[in-house]
Amino acid sequence: SLPSKVKIVEVGPRDGLQNEKETIPADIKIALVNQLTAAGFVNIEAASFVSPKWVPQMATSSEVMAAITRKPGVIYSALVPNMKGLEAALAANADEMVIFGSASEAFSQKNINCSIAESIERFREVALMAKQAGKRLRGSISCAFGCPYQGEVDVAAVVDVLKRLHDLGCDEIDIADTIGVGTPNKVQTVMQKLTQEFPIERLSGHFHDTYGQALANIYASLEVGISIYHSSVAGLGGCPYAKGATGNVATEDVLYMMNGLGIATGIDLDKVVDAGQFISTHLGRKAVSRAGNAIAAK
Ligand code: HMG
Ligand code: MG
Repeated sequence: SLPSKVKIVEVGPRDGLQNEKETIPADIKIALVNQLTAAGFVNIEAASFVSPKWVPQMATSSEVMAAITRKPGVIYSALVPNMKGLEAALAANADEMVIFGSASEAFSQKNINCSIAESIERFREVALMAKQAGKRLRGSISCAFGCPYQGEVDVAAVVDVLKRLHDLGCDEIDIADTIGVGTPNKVQTVMQKLTQEFPIERLSGHFHDTYGQALANIYASLEVGISIYHSSVAGLGGCPYAKGATGNVATEDVLYMMNGLGIATGIDLDKVVDAGQFISTHLGRKAVSRAGNAIAAK
């Protein structure tokens, strides 16, 4: 049977916006995070303390973290690639630090400018200091189902990175389909394998919807028993270091499916639809959420 409840991690303010060309004012990002908080998310990825030369859109992360209205109990997460990022995230009082690696050597080089082995060494001190500061630690594994540069990614490579992130003390580990190439059977095979190496209740699925497979892959993961999913309001997004990658699966679509399945999320879909319309209006385009647009049109 499927899980009776799931945790949805809203990644729109980070993964969703990081690739936008036009600078989005901090005020808009703050308003978005506040609307998402009001919608009932317990975990929102709100910031990314990476090099502003690499990802200019995230340069306002400190400003955003300082001005959002925090609801007690809600975890506001931030990406931290190295010690410099961690220091900034600690200063901004992020609740959860996200170290992000890859199962693909080629992607690791393009995204964080080092090999997988080097990234793990870099993360070691970050993980230690994050834990010492009493923060939650999350690990992310990109290209778990395929890579834009090297194509196929061996399941063994995913397992290997998972084990290393586990050793570093990650509380949660994200299995990411960066370019959305996974299909349900493959997703089940990989997820099943990973559950043998890491507690299933702390594994999450991070699916981009580039090939329209994300909801099917979430359902496939539900069948395996995975109960944490990442999604992006209005289907915002794309990775700057994965050419042609589109947004994460739209939060509205995921919530609509969970509601229909009778799986509890604790999130108010109508409020998410409003947040999706708000940010899409700001960006000057239609939301990339089928359910969101259908509900908004009623
Ligand atoms: P590097 O150039 O090798 O780093 O970049 P460096 O240590 O040599 O530093 C170079 C310059 O960057 C220096 O400045 C540093 O101070 C600065 P300069 O002396 O030239 O003026 N710098 C920083 N500034 C601010 N914050 C920092 C920081 N670190 C160094 N933390 C680095 C290495 C990792 C920094 C770089 O490659 C980088 O920032 N990469 C981030 C790429 C990124 O953000 N990608 C998108 C997020 S990952 C993603 O979307 C995937 C995910 O969604 C899952 C999935 O879907 O797959 C999570
Ligand atoms: Mg992503």
